[in-house]
Amino acid sequence: MPELPAPIARRRTFAIISHPDAGKTTLTEKLLLFGGAIQMAGAVKARGEQRRAHSDWMKVERERGISVASSVMTFDYEGCTFNLLDTPGHEDFSEDTYRTLTAVDSAVMVLDAARGIEAQTLKLFEVCRLRDIPIITFVNKMDREARDPFETLDEVEQTLALEVTPASWPIGMGKGFLGCYDLFDDRLILLARSKGEVPDAGDPCQGLDDPKLDEQLPGHAVESLREQVEMARGLCPEFDLEAYRGGHMTPVFFGSALNNFGVREVLKGLISVAPPPRPQPTAAGPIEPQEKTTTGFVFKIQANMDPKHRDRIAFMRLASGHFKRGMKMKHVRSGKTLTIHTPVQFMAQDREVAEEAWPGDIIGIPNHGNLRIGDALTDGADITFTGIPSFAPEMLQKARPDDPMKAKHLGRALQQIAEEGAARVFKPRIGADWVVGVVGALQFEVLADRIRTEYGIPVHFEPTTLYTARWLEADDHLKLKRFIDANSTAIADDHDNAPVFMARNAWHLDRASDDNPDIRFLKTKEQV
Ligand code: G4P
Repeated sequence: MPELPAPIARRRTFAIISHPDAGKTTLTEKLLLFGGAIQMAGAVKARGEQRRAHSDWMKVERERGISVASSVMTFDYEGCTFNLLDTPGHEDFSEDTYRTLTAVDSAVMVLDAARGIEAQTLKLFEVCRLRDIPIITFVNKMDREARDPFETLDEVEQTLALEVTPASWPIGMGKGFLGCYDLFDDRLILLARSKGEVPDAGDPCQGLDDPKLDEQLPGHAVESLREQVEMARGLCPEFDLEAYRGGHMTPVFFGSALNNFGVREVLKGLISVAPPPRPQPTAAGPIEPQEKTTTGFVFKIQANMDPKHRDRIAFMRLASGHFKRGMKMKHVRSGKTLTIHTPVQFMAQDREVAEEAWPGDIIGIPNHGNLRIGDALTDGADITFTGIPSFAPEMLQKARPDDPMKAKHLGRALQQIAEEGAARVFKPRIGADWVVGVVGALQFEVLADRIRTEYGIPVHFEPTTLYTARWLEADDHLKLKRFIDANSTAIADDHDNAPVFMARNAWHLDRASDDNPDIRFLKTKEQV
């Protein structure tokens, strides 16, 4: 592999995946704190209105106390530029999370030391596995009563079918948690010294037999540390960079984000082992980041980030080249050329205009709705990025305006929301209602609130008897047309006018697909 130019090689674009409550927000906050991107602890976590004013844009978010929208935070630490893509922890918003994961090169998986792998972690991990995203594991909350570290390692290995190797080893736990021994860097890191805002670098040691350990730790703690590490080394394979980068092995750090403990080691781990920007999949094969042509893809659209300015921001991940402000790029889907005058860069608390960006970076492009998820921009030949999924919704409801005269306006609002990727919107061929599909029930409330506040249309959702939707495809257009004509009561069009089969129940779907082997009933549709 040719060496990457320095500005690309020093980028680390990653996401944190976890189950709600495992400590993702706390870890994010500490990462930003160490990266100098924020000045004080508590700025990310909603411990007051401060954070909410910056990153919880919507009323629903405030009411519910959950972060609905993903965002991007950029910071520098020890010569690396980190782009941390925040993913919503709530399971109802997993679709957004899935797409965010298409834009990262690696992930940090946060586990609660007492709970191990939980449902949401597993789901997110599976998405990472689909894309072979390398994962660093952080076992958080070691300052509380936790599971035995061997048990945690074993669970990760068994549940995720992933090789595990400890990167640090905890010394005690709960009230008796004293710190960790950094196995990557042979250092003793003590909890008591980590509480300050400048991370303690630990004490370099000459391996585990170093008498320093006996001087600084109580006898029983050193003894069990030596014993356990020996055992762990016997049980776990050594760290293997290739296996990690291929998504087959995870190094495991132990710590306590709340106590600033272990966070520095995770950052160090990201610097030393996490991959720089990886090649991105396109229809014509992967595109390398160091290619001269500047290309990028949109993986997220967000409307009304700032309630004062009714704007839409398309989040684009740079895949190759070198972006400069004012650059002209071709929007491949429409064939039009866009001049990107005000690309937005996302710092921890602010948005700034980006003068330049490199592969791995995320820039926000303000637009009026012409950019959509999956869109490619390039200053060279046409390109199509692949693997950005759109999911078949699991819940379908009818959207009805409270005022029937507003039906047309509602249609336009729903069309925009569908283009953003916030929900699927279907117009049945027969009947006047719009059907909205989501992955999680809470999304209906969020949508109703948005339509009311952003578009001024009071709206309500009503249950339907529909079971699911499947996109229809066939090689033979005539056969597809015949199927559609024969089943018109069950056919709708999505916002791109792609035909969709609306199944009443599982049987209806099975029957239709069994009877029509030439037609593909697709659960996901790649965004094109
Ligand atoms: P999330 O984003 O993954 O949902 O988790 P978050 O960071 O909000 O953490 C969930 C709870 O766990 C918070 O407590 C947080 O303070 C706590 N926590 C995070 N890391 C640690 C740790 O290392 N040790 C201990 N003991 N607790 C930790 P909370 O009571 O829900 O919120 P708060 O009032 O403390 O903000």
